[in-house]
Amino acid sequence: MGDYHTTYQRSLLDPEGFWREAAEAIDWIREPEQILDAANPPFYRWFTGGVLNTCYNALDRHVAAGRGGQAALIYDSPLTSSKATYSYAELLEQVAAFAGALRAIGVEQGDRVIIYMPMVPEAVVAMLACARLGAVHSVVFGGFAPNELAVRIDDAKPKVIVSASCGIEPTRVVEYKPMLDRAIEIAGHKPRHCIILQRPQAQAHLAERDLDWAAVMAAAQPAECVPVAATDPLYILYTSGTTGKPKGVVRDNGGHAVALAWSMPNIYGVSVGDVYWAASDVGWVVGHSYIVYAPLLVGATTVLYEGKPVGTPDAGAFWRVVAEHRVKALFTAPTAFRAIKKEDPSAVLLAGHDISSLQTLFLAGERLDPETYRWASDVLGIPVVDHWWQTETGWPICANLRGLDPMPIKPGSPSVPVPGYDVQVLDEHGTPLTYGHEGAICVKLPLPPGCLPTLWGDDERYVASYLSAFPGWYLTGDGGYKDDEGYLYVMGRTDDVINVAGHRLSTGAMEAVLAQHPAVAECAVIGVHDELKGQVPRGFVVLKAGASADPAQLQSELVAAVRDQVGPVAAFKEVAIVPALPKTRSGKILRKTMRQIADGQDAPTPSTIEDASVLDKIRPALLRQDT
Ligand code: COA
Ligand code: AMP
Repeated sequence: MGDYHTTYQRSLLDPEGFWREAAEAIDWIREPEQILDAANPPFYRWFTGGVLNTCYNALDRHVAAGRGGQAALIYDSPLTSSKATYSYAELLEQVAAFAGALRAIGVEQGDRVIIYMPMVPEAVVAMLACARLGAVHSVVFGGFAPNELAVRIDDAKPKVIVSASCGIEPTRVVEYKPMLDRAIEIAGHKPRHCIILQRPQAQAHLAERDLDWAAVMAAAQPAECVPVAATDPLYILYTSGTTGKPKGVVRDNGGHAVALAWSMPNIYGVSVGDVYWAASDVGWVVGHSYIVYAPLLVGATTVLYEGKPVGTPDAGAFWRVVAEHRVKALFTAPTAFRAIKKEDPSAVLLAGHDISSLQTLFLAGERLDPETYRWASDVLGIPVVDHWWQTETGWPICANLRGLDPMPIKPGSPSVPVPGYDVQVLDEHGTPLTYGHEGAICVKLPLPPGCLPTLWGDDERYVASYLSAFPGWYLTGDGGYKDDEGYLYVMGRTDDVINVAGHRLSTGAMEAVLAQHPAVAECAVIGVHDELKGQVPRGFVVLKAGASADPAQLQSELVAAVRDQVGPVAAFKEVAIVPALPKTRSGKILRKTMRQIADGQDAPTPSTIEDASVLDKIRPALLRQDT
């Protein structure tokens, strides 16, 4: 245990010394020449000159240290009634073989590989195999539609795509292969090959471009780790921005390995031999960092869970997994706990399970509402730790550092800035605000190791999106305030990104779909409060003059179009037809005002509004009094 304040101050005053020490947790092929390379601001790089392999650090070195027999990954899938445990030696064998299979079809260092897979061990194998070769993986979440996959294919230009015949949702088998084929058809870029894992629940038809996972594995020669530069990209993960075009967040090898290895003992209190479970999906950043890389980097055991918190089979599913695998730390999104609470408010299903191994519950991905915090604390009787971060940073920005120096928990706050992050709340002129005042939450440059060095192939968008609002600062896109003890309160996004069941989505992407409908003149999508999912999207459309659509028919067409083009994960189920949208005199739609009214808040009429009467006309629709 250390002292948070001393450690935090040191990380800001002597970042090079701080991160040089942290880098000792990683096995380097060549030590970095420079810890922080600030030669080209605002593009800062960490550990330049360093050479390593991330897969080696996640697997090989643990086997070499004699821990090959320890469980590396426990796969638990109530959706398919199957379970499997892979030791470090077994996982290494699979990964080396799959890396060999990728190499055999031409994948080399720097090539991109898209992974479009459900929560199966092969998804983890594919990610680590790319890392082993120095190839850049880009995992695309299975709940996205072919169109979204196509956009990512065109941006990343993968040589190979790895996928599966199907994913399993509680009520249906989702066939991935037809969606993959459709995406490749839409995309301009065509991959050379697709490797398809055939699952027993659905057999995919394999065409000329396709290879069977089992066949390529049977023929594979294991591949050794390729040395890569610390600054070389490990992966690209696309995330929603304010426009329909997703942002390709780049993660490098060196900074990522160092930051994640630091976070495990210091934030999560987890180290070698502990069992750690991040109940998320490998398609999201939580899955990348805390299902795959971080637990393996520190030699812990990770749990890969293919299921939901409720209904598979019941709201006691999480307790069963914790008890059975002796999980020490569980990480999920608040929405999962809201779902459990809704089904089993008195937590009677806990009674049958011995969850005494569980020391801490970590929650992130969306705001942890105090009611859910209290419920989880009461039923579990352990610290429930909110922490705040984003795809861009790859690891927590604010947390209660359970391994370093546990601090009192304040409901509604993800606690304090993590060492390495100089977090300030700025006013509209870029001046840091004193406590209690709400503004834009920003991080002073340079960002610590592990955070995005840029967007894939788009330095300009990186600067424009994050670094130009306040020069010298990284704009998180979240608003909030600090209290007099330095605890941060994150109140929500200041842009048009919404958070649905812990899934980050762009309202811009949904608006683009609605706008394509021939009857729609203009539209807006906002995130409105939802008891279970935190937020859900709600659309508002204005019809073209003379459009004579049947309202119910139009609504169902619009809902189907968003599901079809963005994906079921958008959970877009409601759209209202309104006479007009409130706008500023310069024509900007007043989405924030709409959101405030829809959430029942006091919404002052903006002085910039073009026609204040529009607000009265659409108020019933915003308040859902029109249905
Ligand atoms: N492939 C295909 N479809 C998928 C999918 C996938 N990988 N993941 C989700 N979907 C579909 C679902 O089947 C659902 O479709 P439906 O509209 O036909 O029912 C839709 O996308 C929405 O899914 P989801 O957000 O999971 O909602 P849900 O109602 O099925 O479950 C929760 C709600 C709260 C139980 C669920 O969101 C959950 O477990 N969240 C945990 C938090 C989490 O994983 N956060 C990630 C960041 S930490
Ligand atoms: P993602 O990039 O998908 O991880 O989403 C990041 C966004 O989710 C952040 O910018 C926040 O808006 C929100 N978020 C994540 N964690 C928290 C949290 N603990 N409290 C409040 N908002 C959060």
